[in-house]
Amino acid sequence: MSSEKSKKQALRAVPDAALPPEDDAPLFKTIPENTDEYASTACPLCNGSGWEQVGNQSSNQGVRRCKCFVLKAQADVVSTARIPHRYRPCSLHNYYPIHGNGTQFRAFNYAVRLAREYPAIDRGLLFMGTVGVGKTHLSVAVLQELIGKGVGCLFYDFGSLLKEIQDSYSKVSHTSELSLLAPVFNTDVLVLDELGASKPTDWVRDTMMHVIGKRYNDQKLTIFTTNYLDQRRASEETLEDRIGVRLRSRLYEMCKTVVIEGEDWRKKKDALNP
Ligand SMILES: Nc1ncnc2c1ncn2[C@@H]1O[C@H](COP(=O)(O)OP(=O)(O)O)[C@@H](O)[C@H]1O
Ligand SMILES: [Mg+2]
Ligand SMILES: [Zn+2]
Repeated sequence: MSSEKSKKQALRAVPDAALPPEDDAPLFKTIPENTDEYASTACPLCNGSGWEQVGNQSSNQGVRRCKCFVLKAQADVVSTARIPHRYRPCSLHNYYPIHGNGTQFRAFNYAVRLAREYPAIDRGLLFMGTVGVGKTHLSVAVLQELIGKGVGCLFYDFGSLLKEIQDSYSKVSHTSELSLLAPVFNTDVLVLDELGASKPTDWVRDTMMHVIGKRYNDQKLTIFTTNYLDQRRASEETLEDRIGVRLRSRLYEMCKTVVIEGEDWRKKKDALNP
């Protein structure tokens, strides 16, 4: 055997490339929105093979999964989780509770705890509050953390989900409805955004109960957001008015209710940018 050949055969697997920043705690890691710069074909580290050689000829050589491969795999998971583009940059790291606002600190702490302790946690979260206080941001931030831990995650705007179910009904058969709902039932952690936003017809209530009841029976973790509150304010509808007393009651068992107060973040940002 030539010495050249024996050197090649001495390649061994070494731990995968750490993602930048290398010493960051996993809790605050997010997946870059744009992984094009790491696209395999252009990657200077691995020439597109997905395997990076480490060490040099004289030292002990090895190969490991290249950064481009790891990032691409994570980006694929994020896209499978259906996190809307607008919310992909949202993380626990860039959620800033407003100084002096205890509800936002509390909400942040619940989000951190869920992300850190899952799966050793028995209830999801119901983020409740007016528009623009960061409910969707925090929910997505938790999903991104869990995705980083390899947990199966899915995000759905509840109104869009109901619409998709309805469309699949009218189009053909039950099969399409089932294939649509399978990931919603099966994913480890589901975010259902904007609970109560759809007009509460009997069909909407039955379908919500069907989806949420199945996850409840299977003891799967769900995070909800809603703009409706439990306390009636003036003539506004409550969450119970929107989703019905049975479903509200079930949610008490499934989730810790976390009220977030504050101004609309978007409005504040607009005021800061003349
Ligand atoms: N405390 C916060 N820190 C950082 N960004 C925030 C905060 N609260 C809201 N935002 C940002 O404001 C926008 C609206 O927040 P969002 O989560 O959509 O509000 P909600 O779901 O409560 O209506 C998003 O871009 C979000 O990232
Ligand atoms: Mg929202
Ligand atoms: Zn590479």
